[in-house]
Amino acid sequence: MITRTQRRHHRQQKTSRRKSRRRKVVNRIVERDLIHRLSYDQYREEVRKVYGGARGAMLARFSQLSGHLHLGDRLLRKRRFDLAGARQILDVGSGAGQILGHLLKYADPEARITGIDISHAMLRRARGRLKSSRPDLITADLARLPFANQSFDCVTCGYVLEHLPDARTGLAEIVRVMKPHARMLLFTTEDSFGGAWTSRLWACRTYNRREILKTCDELGLALTQELWFSRMHKLLRAGGICIELRKRHPAGTSCETASAVPVRVDSAV
Ligand SMILES: C[S@@+](CC[C@H](N)C(=O)[O-])C[C@H]1O[C@@H](n2cnc3c(N)ncnc32)[C@H](O)[C@@H]1O
Repeated sequence: MITRTQRRHHRQQKTSRRKSRRRKVVNRIVERDLIHRLSYDQYREEVRKVYGGARGAMLARFSQLSGHLHLGDRLLRKRRFDLAGARQILDVGSGAGQILGHLLKYADPEARITGIDISHAMLRRARGRLKSSRPDLITADLARLPFANQSFDCVTCGYVLEHLPDARTGLAEIVRVMKPHARMLLFTTEDSFGGAWTSRLWACRTYNRREILKTCDELGLALTQELWFSRMHKLLRAGGICIELRKRHPAGTSCETASAVPVRVDSAV
């Protein structure tokens, strides 16, 4: 016999499923689907144009206003993502150098820092903003990283993965260049209402949190922790997917690593 509590619980579940379906439909309408309509090469050119043009210039000039810069700084300053001991750090999709700036501040002085981006214009802006010659900045595509296997013991990747039609392509490439046990800080746009608007503005896609975690796990990246920029972000589930991952040591492979010398430098800045 079904009790009154069970009936109420069943009703609540049904309402919540209906709301979630409605949210998904709205998000799909708002979200931009350019990434799925063009070939990867055509889409990449569009992304280069977006970031190389006025929007990229605005991002470089006003990134303080978004709050992300300050919140990202806090994550690293408070060592919630700890850079201590990292010697070869890769920042993927450096943009105007937002994460690179934190790395310069909080990484060990002997760490070698490398940033890559498909937009040469963004890397030039990053160099100008950072006023530092320390990071190596290389124009390259996340889908084809110009580095030898197992080159880095730490990777940061902020809001770039959403510019690939399939997360697996980029994540597999990152895993390839990570040393065993290397850690990664990954930020990416979530399939929320806010994420759908981000997708519209930056011509990118969004990801489902559960699916990204599953893909990471399948590629040998273990989730170390889910991070939130602040308690408010956690409460509102805002700010996108922000996770720390660690590369598992593949059973039976040697721990020897290659040096972080680029095997193909597209164009240094
Ligand atoms: C939103 S910005 C992120 C900047 C910075 N990482 C941050 O967290 O604020 C995204 C950057 O990713 C770059 N990007 C997009 N697709 C890329 C790809 N396939 N490979 C490398 N960089 C890419 C863009 O050119 C842009 O500079």
